[in-house]
Amino acid sequence: MSIRPVLTAPDPRLKAMSEDVAQVNDELKKLIDDMLETMYAEDGIGLAAIQVGVPKRLLVMDLAQKEGRREPQAFVNPRILWASDETTTVQEGCLSVPDIWEDVERPTRITAEFLDRDGTLKTVEANGLLSTCLQHEMDHLNGVLFIDHLSKLKRSMALRKVQKARRLEQAS
Ligand code: NI
Repeated sequence: MSIRPVLTAPDPRLKAMSEDVAQVNDELKKLIDDMLETMYAEDGIGLAAIQVGVPKRLLVMDLAQKEGRREPQAFVNPRILWASDETTTVQEGCLSVPDIWEDVERPTRITAEFLDRDGTLKTVEANGLLSTCLQHEMDHLNGVLFIDHLSKLKRSMALRKVQKARRLEQAS
């Protein structure tokens, strides 16, 4: 396994539309393992393949690690089948938009289908953090960042802050 560099906004690759995974094979499992290791190293709870520069419809997640446990999950070719009319506003962050936290309104509950790490088709009924995180990560597969849900003003402020932080990092 190896840690891969995470792209940060406004890297144009983050705007790419990711392609369906054709086959769950050893190469994909290696990518899943690398993504999980990268996510753990960066202290994130979810990561989409495009965030490490791979435009495939794949994401990984672990919502248990904040409680000191590890329950890694992989979602291949995830697709939303149903979303509730009811919405919830949750403060979100993203490894590709470091140190920015903003409220985003999304459907409270969703039903989604995906292939797991073994290529088995599964359905998940999600609410709470799982619902938010799945929708956030699935947005990445369509080239959408959580800051794209904000007002134009808030989005440009967030982008400026990220770019300024990166310049400071490069200068130090
Ligand atoms: Ni993200």
